[in-house]
Amino acid sequence: MTEARPGVDGQLAAGAAPAAARPDGHRTEAVTDLRRIGIHPDHWYPVAVSRKVRPQRTFAAVFAGERIALYRGRSGRVYALEDRCAHRQVPLSMGVVEDDILRCCYHAWAYRGNGRISQIPYLPKGCERPPRGVRSFPVREAFGLVFVFPGDPEKAESAPFPVLPEFGSPTHRTMTFSRTVKCHYSFMHENLLDMNHQFLHRGVLGRIKPELLGYETGPRFVEARYLFVPAGGRKDRGAGLLSAEGLGGKERPDVITIRTEYPYQTLHDVPEDAELPAFSLWAAYVPEDAEQRTNHAYGLLMIAKPPVPGALHVAWPFIRRFTERVFAQDRMAVEAEQRAWDEQGEDRNHEVFPLILDVRDVLRSNGVPLSAQQEAGAGGAPSANGSAAGAGDGRAEASAEPQPADRRQP
Ligand code: FES
Ligand SMILES: [Fe+2]
Repeated sequence: MTEARPGVDGQLAAGAAPAAARPDGHRTEAVTDLRRIGIHPDHWYPVAVSRKVRPQRTFAAVFAGERIALYRGRSGRVYALEDRCAHRQVPLSMGVVEDDILRCCYHAWAYRGNGRISQIPYLPKGCERPPRGVRSFPVREAFGLVFVFPGDPEKAESAPFPVLPEFGSPTHRTMTFSRTVKCHYSFMHENLLDMNHQFLHRGVLGRIKPELLGYETGPRFVEARYLFVPAGGRKDRGAGLLSAEGLGGKERPDVITIRTEYPYQTLHDVPEDAELPAFSLWAAYVPEDAEQRTNHAYGLLMIAKPPVPGALHVAWPFIRRFTERVFAQDRMAVEAEQRAWDEQGEDRNHEVFPLILDVRDVLRSNGVPLSAQQEAGAGGAPSANGSAAGAGDGRAEASAEPQPADRRQP
């Protein structure tokens, strides 16, 4: 699909190869359908909330159709293995944790945290070549989340890891979100970055006219700044508690900065006359299925504690309710967008907002065509790098067939 798009006057991301400039200053969008672009596996992705991975228990996680068995050993450390026993493919997440070993529930083969088999209890003498084990994934636990690195493990160490100074700081308290949303992760980025959708939230936020103050873009990011001026209307009490009004109840404008920095997204709300954010949000949208039409949204909402002791504690349930209401509305919209894509079989969006065109370029050029990701299967990272996604020749269109996860073998 090629369409004329409103221009962005030279702000095209350097890495966004597929978009082409037209002589009239407008540009055309790439033919590669963004919804057929898989998220790049060479990043750290949350796949579980830490407290759900209980001591000496397993947890069945997933990344883009790849099932991952997490388990927490006696040492407290979390390990991540391919979720299939090398013997007869029974999920290892059905297994039993013994010290820092994971034992399959069926014939009790034992695995170390690096995926190597440490014991086959009944191995017959002279058995020539027992399998060595299964794939393991690099794991990091931070911010109350378990992150894995599903791509090339050699890149794990040098891959950027989120830096969230507000998390765990005595000046802030964090509200954690973890839920499945039935849409491609790109709809999530577009939803949060495009603040022109406040009409959707009119019943919760009251009347707000967001004004785009400016935005910047680069090969891996788009950052937009909006001024939010309240313009009356009834709104949820939690909205006031969370925004510039704070606990004083005065109506003041907020400056909201939203940034997609591949593959994460952040939002900072700074009251107009303040220096520090009233709250910050960090989010990751982690595909669950191989086709990536469903994502698991993890969010950390870090709220500055007001000077009045205990005030945030009192406000907490209102803020929770408010954020749930807003999220439910956003989910309704993005899931409807995905359903339309499913019915139409292609992206027929007519996007008019330049920074959304830019974030689409960022997501496209940093991702991998779904075909490459699926071909790589559960046994390894895709060989394609970010640039492959920008080929724009339609190759990706042909091969995003459904492929049940359980057929994908290394
Ligand atoms: S299937 Fe796991 S030990 Fe047999
Ligand atoms: Fe929204």
